[in-house]
Amino acid sequence: MNAVTPDRAAEGGTTGRTATPRHYLMCAPTHFTVSYAINPWMEPSKPVDTALAVVQWERLRALYERLGHRVDLIEPVAGLPDMVYAANGATVVDGKVLGARFRNAERAAEGPAYLDWFRAAGYTAVHDPEQVNEGEGDFLLTDSFILAGQGFRTSPEAHAEAQKFFGRPVIGLELVDPAYYHLDTALSVLAGDEVMYYPEAFSADSRAVLERLFPYALLATAEDASVLGLNAVSDGRHVVLPQAATQLAEQLSARGFEPLGVDLSELLKGGGSVKCCTLTLRE
Ligand code: ARG
Repeated sequence: MNAVTPDRAAEGGTTGRTATPRHYLMCAPTHFTVSYAINPWMEPSKPVDTALAVVQWERLRALYERLGHRVDLIEPVAGLPDMVYAANGATVVDGKVLGARFRNAERAAEGPAYLDWFRAAGYTAVHDPEQVNEGEGDFLLTDSFILAGQGFRTSPEAHAEAQKFFGRPVIGLELVDPAYYHLDTALSVLAGDEVMYYPEAFSADSRAVLERLFPYALLATAEDASVLGLNAVSDGRHVVLPQAATQLAEQLSARGFEPLGVDLSELLKGGGSVKCCTLTLRE
């Protein structure tokens, strides 16, 4: 894996992949802890170092800025420890905001908190959802489609709601392994219509759909998936991912991407990593 230096990040290197400047929304883990369990990663009895979570999260934010991306921040709310996982706060495509409606009561108040941020930031096409959807945790955008997870959190009815609201084709994908409860823990969009994913996280028919849509997809090993290696954020060239996903990093390099590994050990205890902490704002 390549070390990140400001120079490397800025110069672009020689691999022929082009980075596009992105606009992200993040939420500091000021109030992060694991006080309840709504996915198999969360063990409330296991200690969490919140100060370390903040340091690790700050490094991720600084890395995005060094790569030339704009990062906006939403104020963390006390009593909402999972609010750091900003990807779940909404889905933003073509400047239109589909708010989130959380499956679990513990996170319900995050939906309105994120909606308030968007309204205050001047977004006008803001839709308060009727169906359960957990934002970019389960909605991932490729050039041609919105890939939409279901099975644990986002409801299939929300897929229809998203298709109607955004006017883009939504491809429903069924998740079957509780460790990969959000689509963004099992699949990542690298560029255009290029994705990487962990096949075993999907039902047989969803796997068939993925093979048909993305015959050249990069496939992750069980080891890389189990460190949430697929919870990655790509700008088309740099792929920021958990540093423990070493085989994935090699596979990405072989395809001309520049993998940048980060350590988010504390946030992993909540069942999230790089992508979970990053909501993409698309004007
Ligand atoms: N503890 C959070 C939950 O279970 C983690 C969310 C991770 N976010 C994500 N985009 N996968 O809801």
